[in-house]
Amino acid sequence: MSKPVVLIVDDEPDLLELVSLTLSRMSLETHTAADVASAQRLLKAQHFDLCLTDMRLPDGDGLDLVEWIQTHRTDVPVAVITAHGNIQSAVRALKLGAFDFVSKPLDLSVLRKLVGSAIKLGARADDATATTASARLLGHSPIMQQLREMIGRVARSQAPVHIYGESGTGKELVARLIHESGARSEGPFVPVNCGAIPTELMESELFGHKRGSFTGAVADKKGLVQSAEGGTLFLDEVADLPLHMQVKLLRLVQEKTIRPVGESREESVDVRILSATHKNLSDLVAEGRFREDLFYRINVIELRVASLRERPEDIPVLAGAILARLCRRMKMETARISAEAMQALQAYPFPGNVRELENVLERALTLSTGGVITPEHIKLRAVQRGAAPHTPASAPVNGSVGLGHQLEDIEREAIVKALEKTRYNKTAAAKLLGMTFRALRYRIKKLGIE
Ligand SMILES: Nc1ncnc2c1ncn2[C@@H]1O[C@H](COP(=O)(O)OP(=O)(O)OP(=O)(O)O)[C@@H](O)[C@H]1O
Ligand SMILES: [Mg+2]
Repeated sequence: MSKPVVLIVDDEPDLLELVSLTLSRMSLETHTAADVASAQRLLKAQHFDLCLTDMRLPDGDGLDLVEWIQTHRTDVPVAVITAHGNIQSAVRALKLGAFDFVSKPLDLSVLRKLVGSAIKLGARADDATATTASARLLGHSPIMQQLREMIGRVARSQAPVHIYGESGTGKELVARLIHESGARSEGPFVPVNCGAIPTELMESELFGHKRGSFTGAVADKKGLVQSAEGGTLFLDEVADLPLHMQVKLLRLVQEKTIRPVGESREESVDVRILSATHKNLSDLVAEGRFREDLFYRINVIELRVASLRERPEDIPVLAGAILARLCRRMKMETARISAEAMQALQAYPFPGNVRELENVLERALTLSTGGVITPEHIKLRAVQRGAAPHTPASAPVNGSVGLGHQLEDIEREAIVKALEKTRYNKTAAAKLLGMTFRALRYRIKKLGIE
């Protein structure tokens, strides 16, 4: 693998040398620029895995460069070097999309950590097997800026955070960012899809088991919780946890202890707990399907990830970044989206949020020729603008009475089609629909299919 490449922008030769030297020792390739204009030239000319810029530059300031990168080179993570104590400009940089800052005088160990985690983020973005496509949260809308700020704040705390929002809004990405920007970033991030593990295996998957504790337990096995030791455990689709597991998790959250299956003693673990769901947990509590005590424990801090409908102004930046990533993956020149096509995208309500945008663009890219995506390439589902998918996590839309039903009809139709296609094999149908078996079963019941 080739060395990651970093661009350092600063007009002070001493600082430039210090940073270059530090990064070279981390076996990174470094390039330098002394002003905004030459930095932009370099960024246009070649790929960088990270850009590190000083705030005050001869022809502008670091913020200009941060902003420029957010529109022109969205794939490059950028961090700023701020003057000592200048928290305000650091915050402004973060709001504009910088992923972090270091202040002068430079603490080299802080710098190394920052660069290390940025390069890791980049590596993950290129890793085709990773569940996240990019470990950066893009978007300039006020809601996204607020979310980024909240992430920075909660990352410093050790409290459990519950993330909620519609499907495909970026909940897992938010969880990863909280982990990456916190004190546990060197530790593991372990996502657990609570809806995907068969109920009868869940306890041993999560807490591990002792050899011989049940048929098939041929050796001691570590659970997912233990493998998150020192890091973060991300309970995704936490609403799908069966009640008997909820009791056990409560013990973990409350006492920081677990007991592997077949083990007589409890062991203590050090994990931070993040959770997410697209369902409304308090409704589930009211229905008696989610324990209230667990709800209050995992819900100490709540983060809501807004639907794409609430922030259409983020669509151009997201689309640009997604397209750049797709093209890179397919080893082709970066394609462009025509103005009309972009308009069409911005007028569409995206019930599947960012994930749907990714799918739409991937398909469009396949259909396009000559590196330009036009409206014909964009096949959008027939969903009316203003129509919110019927998920409890979405804010009520004014005058949307009736739309819920309309969407339920669309959903019902999709499910019936998938079932017919798979000859009523629910497992296969769920796969086809991109949902868990349990989620499908739940919806079939809710919509009264069968
Ligand atoms: N603000 C964002 N900037 C960049 N990429 C994003 C953003 N939000 C979402 N994505 C991308 O969209 C995809 C879906 O995000 P993610 O898996 O985090 O969503 P989710 O809310 O967990 O979805 P689901 O409910 O379906 O599990 C991912 O590829 C993610 O990288
Ligand atoms: Mg998810």
